[in-house]
Amino acid sequence: MSGDDIEDDSEDAGTEGESNRVPVLLVRGDREYLVEPGGEQGTDLGVLEVPTDVQSGDTIETHLGDEFQVRRLRGPDLFHHFERTGAPMVPRDIGLVIGETGIAGGDRVLDAGTGTGVLAALLARAGAEVVTYEQDAEFADVARENMALGGVADAVDVRTGDVTDEVDALEPSSFDVMTLDTADAPAMVEHAPDLLVDGGFVAVYSPFIESTREVARTAREVGLANVTTRETIQREMQFDDRGSRPTTAPVGHTGYLTIARNE
Ligand SMILES: C[S@@+](CC[C@H](N)C(=O)[O-])C[C@H]1O[C@@H](n2cnc3c(N)ncnc32)[C@H](O)[C@@H]1O
Repeated sequence: MSGDDIEDDSEDAGTEGESNRVPVLLVRGDREYLVEPGGEQGTDLGVLEVPTDVQSGDTIETHLGDEFQVRRLRGPDLFHHFERTGAPMVPRDIGLVIGETGIAGGDRVLDAGTGTGVLAALLARAGAEVVTYEQDAEFADVARENMALGGVADAVDVRTGDVTDEVDALEPSSFDVMTLDTADAPAMVEHAPDLLVDGGFVAVYSPFIESTREVARTAREVGLANVTTRETIQREMQFDDRGSRPTTAPVGHTGYLTIARNE
């Protein structure tokens, strides 16, 4: 066997007597399965038996002799394999949030709403400690399971509740960054000057221009600096024998990202 040990030492990953190891990806071409160590997976190429001590980089054969590669879950895999509730942010937009706010190890982030939890999990994987609020109790439960799957249960505190009701319970000037992905984001932007450290950022993601205008207006009204809104559009390129051009598939817009700074 070779590769990195994929054992998850987070407390939430399991209890004594149960498997405390996170699922791994078994990959062959377009085929991809998420399977727990010690588990079994039926495929059209035969049955895969995953050893309990499986490691990233291993190769496992089906009982018919076809090989699958073992991989640990990385950030983009979480987007595809987390159980979905609230519409998750796509990885490229999360990259913009991290790039524009500088979220890094040691930062404290206030996130709302949790939804599927893809943003919260990727921020934690970048090293941040995340407090995230989800008003839907069932969504919050799913998000906690997703955090365990992502190996970040210790770094992400999923709290059930409407974040706008919890503002008074939050310590002033205790967050380096606020990330908001809710329709009522303006109500939280109002509190950004109180909740953020000096020089901290608020990042608001919204699919619609109407709420985005409201966010930008509120950010200026409460005295935040460097208020900037950009559409998070990208075009995939297509390369074939006839030439190269952006794909004609009509997917480009995912949202608007407003960034502002507490000064
Ligand atoms: C678009 S999803 C967030 C997706 C998340 N950013 C991700 O990457 O997976 C929005 C979520 O916010 C929750 N929500 C909306 N308003 C909220 C509030 N005021 N407090 C807490 N959660 C809220 C909704 O229930 C929904 O699950």
